[in-house]
Amino acid sequence: KILILDFGSQYTQLIARCVREANVYCEILPYSKTFEFDGNLKGIILSGSPFSVNDTNAPVINLKGMAEQVPVLGICYGAQLATKLYGGRVEKSNKREYGRAQMEVKGAKDVVLRGVPDKSQVWMSHGDSILELPADFEVLATTESIPVAAFKYSKAPHPLYGLQFHPEVHHSVEGKNILHNFLVNICGCSQDWTPAHFITDTISQLKEKIGNRKVIMALSGGVDSTVAATLIHKAIGDHLYGIFVDNGVLRKGEFEQVLETYKQLGLNIKGVDARQLFYKELKGNPDPEAKRKIIGRLFIDVFQQEAKQLSGIDFLGQGTIYPDVIESVSVHGPSVTIKSHHNVGGLPEKMHLELVEPLRFLFKDEVRKVGRELGIPSNLIDRHPFPGPGLAIRILGEVTEEKVKLLQEADDIYIKALKENDLYATVWQAGTILLPVKSVGVMGDERTYEYTVALRAVTSVDGMTADWAHLPYEFLANVSNEICNNVRGINRVVYDISSKPPATIEWE
Ligand code: XMP
Repeated sequence: KILILDFGSQYTQLIARCVREANVYCEILPYSKTFEFDGNLKGIILSGSPFSVNDTNAPVINLKGMAEQVPVLGICYGAQLATKLYGGRVEKSNKREYGRAQMEVKGAKDVVLRGVPDKSQVWMSHGDSILELPADFEVLATTESIPVAAFKYSKAPHPLYGLQFHPEVHHSVEGKNILHNFLVNICGCSQDWTPAHFITDTISQLKEKIGNRKVIMALSGGVDSTVAATLIHKAIGDHLYGIFVDNGVLRKGEFEQVLETYKQLGLNIKGVDARQLFYKELKGNPDPEAKRKIIGRLFIDVFQQEAKQLSGIDFLGQGTIYPDVIESVSVHGPSVTIKSHHNVGGLPEKMHLELVEPLRFLFKDEVRKVGRELGIPSNLIDRHPFPGPGLAIRILGEVTEEKVKLLQEADDIYIKALKENDLYATVWQAGTILLPVKSVGVMGDERTYEYTVALRAVTSVDGMTADWAHLPYEFLANVSNEICNNVRGINRVVYDISSKPPATIEWE
């Protein structure tokens, strides 16, 4: 495996995803964590950082010790840190580089640049520059504005490389190629991190861990819990007891459809209709955070109630994925909770069950690949993310059963239309929001006074930032017509053209 030491860069996860895409397993660790050099560790990548290596509190590591053991690749801050620790000079230069730059290869082409043309576009993002390399460091490439875009030091027991640019960013045209060279030709990684391999390994590990004991698990109809449950099911069969709760704020027909797919997959899942319980408690609670808390709490109640009826359960299955468990390096102090996200993951520790989390080390795109390999149908694998509190946070203000029905109808028209027009897969997430506004309309000879819905669709990579999707006007016009003509209670449709930031994807 490869270890990525994180110095707090916004791109660290992207580095990891590029490494995984090369079918090489990697893990991210905060730079300050200790780790073992066992036979499995084939190389180390140092990430970028918002720090300058010259800051008094700049993060440092025992780089020389590491280069004794395995090849090291420093990216941006990582490269500057290597320069500084070996006695070179890094300074805030008046030529800062942000964005595209032209890299030019110097001298004989090193293995790390194998297959890279003499000139290629790279992506830069740095305020400091390497002005002088330490003794015995070789320049491998430059750009117009900086003397060192890539370097190598070959006097350590293992080669040490530095790249000033970001190979993990898509705009570095040869970035993947360079990473591939480092991973395969320099570290000697075998490219055996594939979905098929992961599946066989995981199933045998699960069999060993669980034996003939039993697992209970909450499913949400989402990709993660479905893939996790399928893996566990492959390992232990009907000793997996799944529970899928209808909390009253799912999409139209979702409860039935998802249960049906689970059945087809052969999973042992019980559907629990708890709608009325949720509506009762949501009544009179317009506050978004209060709604989230109510839904989270009731979900746990229902789940525990169901768990009580089963005996001899030892494990709790969960669809936790890697981004949820990566420890992040906080540079700006403790991060603030912006929304209290409730997932099916939020089950209480007091259940005293041991956790089974087969996807703990996978990124979302890897979960999807594994899901496809497992034969899970596309209606589950390729579905948009859907928040745990469901339509409750898309009904602004108080949630009632009537409003849910209204929104379900409008949303169903929108989502079906996206699918029919081959637009569903082009957006990252789409949904409909019921606004707490009534406005005047006219239908036939009659005046109406009804609700407004907002259609939302965004493009995004991970939901952290997002742009509004530029859906065709004709499409929006048709959806608007269809909603107003078919959903009694809605007479106006608007389209949300805000990006994140400054807005968020959800409205609450
Ligand atoms: P925002 O609105 O913060 O959403 O831009 C980013 C992503 O998170 C989802 N989201 C939630 N998911 N519980 C969840 O499980 C929540 O309370 C919640 N709030 C937002 C949102 O759907 C989007 O995918």
